Amino acid sequence: MIRPNDRCWCGSGLKYKRCHLNADEEPRAATIQPARETRLVTPQGRPCVAPGIVAPAGAVPPEIPRPDYALTGRPKRRFGRGESVPMTPEQLARMRRACKAAAEVLAITGSAVKPGVTTEALDAIAHRETIARGAYPSPLNYNGFPKSICTSVNEVVCHGIPDSRPLEEGDIINVDVTVFLDGMHGDCSATFPVGAISEAAQKLIDVTRDCLDVGIAAVRPGQPVSDIGRAIEDLATRQGYGVVRAYCGHGIGEAFHTGVYVPHFFDRSAKAIMRPGMTFTIEPMITIGKFECDQWPDGWTEVTRDRDLTAQFEHTLVVTETGAEILTLP
Ligand code: MF3
Ligand code: CO
Ligand code: CO
Repeated sequence: MIRPNDRCWCGSGLKYKRCHLNADEEPRAATIQPARETRLVTPQGRPCVAPGIVAPAGAVPPEIPRPDYALTGRPKRRFGRGESVPMTPEQLARMRRACKAAAEVLAITGSAVKPGVTTEALDAIAHRETIARGAYPSPLNYNGFPKSICTSVNEVVCHGIPDSRPLEEGDIINVDVTVFLDGMHGDCSATFPVGAISEAAQKLIDVTRDCLDVGIAAVRPGQPVSDIGRAIEDLATRQGYGVVRAYCGHGIGEAFHTGVYVPHFFDRSAKAIMRPGMTFTIEPMITIGKFECDQWPDGWTEVTRDRDLTAQFEHTLVVTETGAEILTLP
């Protein structure tokens, strides 16, 4: 079981007792609160993303092995304590298969992004491709999440729920795919343009991809995890962008989120030392405007407080003797 002083399951980097502990102890509502967006237009004059209707999730064939939370919604496995145990070669072999499958599902789903396609149609593609690989879509019922992937459009920072909203020309969308295969989770995401997009949106996407790249380049055994955020924050702020602090990279493996906390900004408290065989994600969320976030009443969808655009890229990687190896490649 997760303990009060462990890092929260949500990836915030906060202690569980300072984050979701109270909310988790509330009796679970039968359905999530409908999403509402109180703002109609952004300060930039662009319409805000309007919540659509969330359809029931697809079925997962009974022969597909499920993570421990699939039925209850609550991950059982106790989190690590900030330090991750390096994987054995046998575990790493399983991790490679899960991560490769996640990367394939992301590539296929991303190639379906175009104007008029709804985010629930993307979810259906990802769900189908995940189960076709004998894998379980990790987000499904993870702490009650209702769908198989996260789709985060425009000002949505992360954890957007696929719904009936059709993508519009000029939107940008992050598709975040995690699959559970061979007892391991593999987690990756990318931001895609919807048709022709503004120069500002394209620049944001390019800088965000660069931020992931410099974060990965900062991975070195014997060094603290805080080196990663230092490199990312340096690059982002030099180019005038913001780095979201509310969500971080995380240890990953037999659990979706372990106690390893990987901030994308410089945080001296991220003292865990990188060791060969450790697996974690790097997943910077970069903003054009301010980095502060608000949450829709659905309890999931995070948006920038100023409703300006944000992008994200994510890989799962393993620390090697000399640096990092990206695992989420097709
Ligand atoms: N894939 C997300 C991450 O990068 C987590 C999604 S949790 C969910 O950590 F419940 F929203 F699916
Ligand atoms: Co992740
Ligand atoms: Co992810």
